[in-house]
Amino acid sequence: MARITVLGGTGYAGGRIAREAVSRGHQVTTVSRGTPSEPIEGAADRTGDVTDETLLAELLDDADVVVNALAARGSMVGRVVEVSRTLVRLAAEKGVRLGVVGGAGVLKVSEDGPRLIDTDGFPEQARPEASEMIEVLGLLEDSDEALDWFYVSPAAGFGDFNPGERTGSYRIGGEVLLTDEEGGSDISGDDYALAFVDEIETPRHRRARFGVAN
Ligand SMILES: NC(=O)c1ccc[n+]([C@@H]2O[C@H](COP(=O)([O-])OP(=O)(O)OC[C@H]3O[C@@H](n4cnc5c(N)ncnc54)[C@H](OP(=O)(O)O)[C@@H]3O)[C@@H](O)[C@H]2O)c1
Repeated sequence: MARITVLGGTGYAGGRIAREAVSRGHQVTTVSRGTPSEPIEGAADRTGDVTDETLLAELLDDADVVVNALAARGSMVGRVVEVSRTLVRLAAEKGVRLGVVGGAGVLKVSEDGPRLIDTDGFPEQARPEASEMIEVLGLLEDSDEALDWFYVSPAAGFGDFNPGERTGSYRIGGEVLLTDEEGGSDISGDDYALAFVDEIETPRHRRARFGVAN
């Protein structure tokens, strides 16, 4: 049993990760500014703003693993990277493993191809958020060796607009976007959470990123 704190634990990705972790018997705390509209039975809810460093430090004191499932949208544009900088420092100091819900934009479309974010078809409205999550990855890659981190890029079609179904399986990739036979790239919210919690329970990627897709 691990103590898992999910920053953004009421969101699309964070909520599913929290739910999956609770179902496997972990001690889970979700953190969000608003009161959860659908509280997860078995998880503790903590209401607070993670831009507050004192709160972050307190949260990390009670965690084995902290999950960053924040989204660089609305008032958090430009601030997810700031919070991540603090998280990287505190998690290294306190020996807490840091898992990050990353974006697909950083993945290359083929071994020698451009990153998804640099392709013409990449949605313009998603570019700022994707760029910020690439910046977050840079912070991890440049972090002190003491920090144990992993960063999980979902398939391109991941998101609350496309929750999909739980299939109970997923494929793991590296720096290249995983696609299916028709060229699609999807992962359901629940299968993404499955992969994320599998990595928490059985670490296979230390100081590394990977991609997941159905
Ligand atoms: N295809 C893709 O590449 C793709 C698509 C979607 C998402 N993603 C990844 O998934 C991540 C999460 O996205 P999502 O769609 O799951 O986001 P979301 O549903 O908007 O959830 C964001 C969560 O963060 C919380 N939050 C925001 N600001 C906070 C603050 N200052 N303090 C505490 N909690 C705060 C929100 O709750 P409150 O508002 O109540 O605080 C909510 O629980 C993104 O950053 C991105 O990396 C990738």
